Amino acid sequence: MHTQVGIVGAGPAGLLLGQMLHLKGIDSVIIENRRRDYVIERVRAGVLEQGTVDLMTELGLGARLRREGLAHQGLFLSFAGARHRINLAELTGGKVITVYGQNELVKDLLDGRAASGRPLYFEVEHVAIHGFESQRSKITFQNNGNEHQIECDFIAGCDGFHGVCRPSIPEEAIQTYEREYPFAWLGILAEAAPSSEELVYTCHKRGFALFSMRSPKITRLYFQVPQEEDIANWSDDAIWDEMLTRMTTLDGWKPNRGPIIQKGITPLRSFVAEPMRFGRLFLAGDAAHIVPPTGAKGLNLAANDVMVLARGLTEYYTRGTMRLLDAYSAVCLRRVWKAQRFSWWMTQTLHRFPGDTEFDYRRQLADLDYITGSRAAMTSLAENYVGLPLDAPLT
Ligand code: FAD
Ligand code: PHB
Repeated sequence: MHTQVGIVGAGPAGLLLGQMLHLKGIDSVIIENRRRDYVIERVRAGVLEQGTVDLMTELGLGARLRREGLAHQGLFLSFAGARHRINLAELTGGKVITVYGQNELVKDLLDGRAASGRPLYFEVEHVAIHGFESQRSKITFQNNGNEHQIECDFIAGCDGFHGVCRPSIPEEAIQTYEREYPFAWLGILAEAAPSSEELVYTCHKRGFALFSMRSPKITRLYFQVPQEEDIANWSDDAIWDEMLTRMTTLDGWKPNRGPIIQKGITPLRSFVAEPMRFGRLFLAGDAAHIVPPTGAKGLNLAANDVMVLARGLTEYYTRGTMRLLDAYSAVCLRRVWKAQRFSWWMTQTLHRFPGDTEFDYRRQLADLDYITGSRAAMTSLAENYVGLPLDAPLT
């Protein structure tokens, strides 16, 4: 097979890139090592920045998102038994976030890919990438027991944190920066109507908790657990007891209870690989960086990377210059590091760390009291949460 851009991974990054290139008349082949059902059903992020929503609209795939996505004008920070609202829209000149499950977004993108008629292979095995340090990039893989080879001008490594693209870059050509956190998130989906129209981030003495949702009938909840926690240790009743202990406020607000339809544990990590490019291989999304989910930035960063990449590839194919592609890594990393900072800050502001003392808890409460009482501090949180503006386009 020959194509212009070989895309490894059919997560949000790979699928968005494929669609953007398609609309510019640029050919791609996407390969994905999981089953289609698995990719669609994987429960992950839920908060979309306005830029991500706008991108889906520009791609002609935003109709269901506009219909079913839940636009939120604000969020709550909850501590010492009370919820404090941060009016995101008012503080940011009208910007909002949209709650729409990542799996729904992926479903819409897969429909778009099918409609484009361009190839996407699921359940591929033994993926390897070659020749990207020169001009002869190649992806090899097996599908249904047959060997395949894609010859391409560029490779987009959109294969997530555990993919093959980043580790294929010579070690001396890439620098990684990492922080692990001594806790993880236990997350559930419950068949229960959300009892708040907006998200509630809670700092409780027993640890962080988060109230979110997926639809008017489905609540999504998380709480902080130790890093090595095993989900088998948590019965549904124990999960509800802990959720309610951490989230119930003195005015009696609490999540509605309902049957738990999905549960899992996600580790928290901050990670950046620099540069995000080696020769003709470009890393995008989780393949290049991971943020802890507290800032709801992972998926939005992936969307931002591929917007920058698509712009560079389009310039290459229309004007024959590598100028924007040469700037890709630096342009993306500026935003990535700001999102790293914000995600780390939200995480350390709201979580309890092992060894924290009563002093630390009081300091944390004072921090939250300050944030929710100062317009300047709220504005800083709000403008980061709704998404910083894209860096000025390189023209
Ligand atoms: P991915 O979505 O990881 O997509 C990569 C794709 O590449 C996958 O489909 C994978 O199967 C495929 N792949 C991997 N290896 C290969 C290979 N060798 N060959 C071919 N294909 C390959 N963010 C939030 O904001 N909030 C959250 O609550 C949240 N929860 C998360 C929970 C989990 C368990 C994880 C892992 C992430 C979570 N994130 C969350 C982060 C967010 O989901 C990611 O930032 C987002 O999915 C990034 O998209 P991506 O396309 O870069 O990577
Ligand atoms: C979610 O709805 O899954 C969600 C919301 C906000 C976050 C992380 C996850 O910060």
